Amino acid sequence: MDESDIAARGTVYVFDTTLRDGEQSPGAALSVDEKVEVARALEEMGVDVIEAGFPISSPGDFRAVQRISEEIRSCVICGLTRANEADIDAAVEALAQAARPRVHTGLGVSDVHIYSKLHTTREEAKQWGVDAVKYAKRFVEDVQYFAEDAGRADPAYLYQVLEAVINAGATVVNIPDTTGYTTPEEFGSLIEGIKENVTNIDRAVISVHCHNDLGMATANTLAGVRGGARQVEVTLNGIGERAGNSSLEEVVMALRTRRDFFELDTRIETRRLYPTSRLVSQLTGIAVQPNKAIVGANAFAHSSGIHQDGVLKERTTYEIINPRDVGAPESAIILSARSGRHGLRHRLEELGHSLDDAQFEKVYQRFLEVADKKKAVDTRDLEAIVADEVQMFFEETYHLELVQVSCGNHSIPTATVRMRGPDGQIVCDADHGTGPVDAVYRAINRVIGEQNELIEFSVQAATEGIDAVGRVTIRIQADEPVNGTERTVYSGHGADTDIVVASAKAYTFALNRLIAARREAQDWSGAGCRKSTSY
Ligand code: KIV
Ligand code: ZN
Repeated sequence: MDESDIAARGTVYVFDTTLRDGEQSPGAALSVDEKVEVARALEEMGVDVIEAGFPISSPGDFRAVQRISEEIRSCVICGLTRANEADIDAAVEALAQAARPRVHTGLGVSDVHIYSKLHTTREEAKQWGVDAVKYAKRFVEDVQYFAEDAGRADPAYLYQVLEAVINAGATVVNIPDTTGYTTPEEFGSLIEGIKENVTNIDRAVISVHCHNDLGMATANTLAGVRGGARQVEVTLNGIGERAGNSSLEEVVMALRTRRDFFELDTRIETRRLYPTSRLVSQLTGIAVQPNKAIVGANAFAHSSGIHQDGVLKERTTYEIINPRDVGAPESAIILSARSGRHGLRHRLEELGHSLDDAQFEKVYQRFLEVADKKKAVDTRDLEAIVADEVQMFFEETYHLELVQVSCGNHSIPTATVRMRGPDGQIVCDADHGTGPVDAVYRAINRVIGEQNELIEFSVQAATEGIDAVGRVTIRIQADEPVNGTERTVYSGHGADTDIVVASAKAYTFALNRLIAARREAQDWSGAGCRKSTSY
């Protein structure tokens, strides 16, 4: 960020950390290709900075930062490091091809972090930070410093640290409420205090990074902006460590909707919010709660008669945001088999899905199957079909061709599956289980033979009604670590009007993902691997 940017007081920079802090959500591991896909969506949406990963932490993170640096040209690409030379070297190497690289380094500033985690003194901790910034500055101009656990630190000490790291060359100072402990009043005052007491603060942008442990992340972020912060660190759908981070869509829409109050705005193309939220949910396997602000399935649903009556007379009686402005579907639009290719293509484009011909043909064939079974296909069914057919950013080793189940209260649930394997060979097998889904999973295990444990299984109806498309999301844990990390949980999703078929698809999806990750790890270890580290 140059001086003229810093002077642009009316803009709040959006620093997206979905691929770093967001990916630290339990079980949200993404493959390198999936991270690149999310990064492309973030660029299209107009985020200013993408925190692409923590390069030294694993080969997967290193590769992801490297690939994103090569492909994304219009955003600042940032890599996280601890305050040591090895971490900074790894980040600099991974960011080498970035058009605008940023190293994000730092360490704790609260006494509990300094004395109990780092086992050092305040003075020494400050010096580590200064040394880390100076070291990073040898390689990149743009260095962001995080003062971890600033929300619980002694403000007087925090001011000293910030002044020292800005003197050492930090261009952005990140003030994290790492544990989600502060209230909006406190956090806003903390930022005001920094502006008043850090004498060189005009040489850096203040960034805020809030966690949601008490459900106040968005409120704290906005209070920080009111206090003088001009960069917000956020994730799509608010995913992240523990209770998550501030949610990008909430912060962006609060600033946009209440521009009269904040007198500030971001550069986000808000119509990309909903599609990008869905992409992240599909790839991470973390469902968006229905009542989630801005992007939840019910965010624009009016069910009470009084509200419906009001909205029909005048939308703004009960809606402060037009769903179209965030790219959310108006679910009343129904398609049928008679809508044809043209009608379907048009609706998909309205929903922000620009598919190539091959992808469109797959979606069209599935659409016909669903339309045949349930006559009226609404937007949420369509979203489920697109997610199922298109959002697969890895090579599919096994393809599920057929599932057949027999079950009932007087029979042993038995399943037969037919799958196409790696060399195109067809394999058929059968097994029985405690229920139809168990029987299908056992039959698939007999074909694929990949050891794993099923750790989560959930079914959601994409639409109302007995004929709704069912969406199954599962998580499996590989028996052995993959990719040099302990994060060996893979999610899968599948959609079908038959939930047993949807379950089989979800399981096959997750297994294919696990196999792809193993292959990626092998390719990487062939090319010389790094040691894994956790933050
Ligand atoms: O929450 C936190 O303090 C962080 C830092 C690493 C920026 O995520
Ligand atoms: Zn964090």
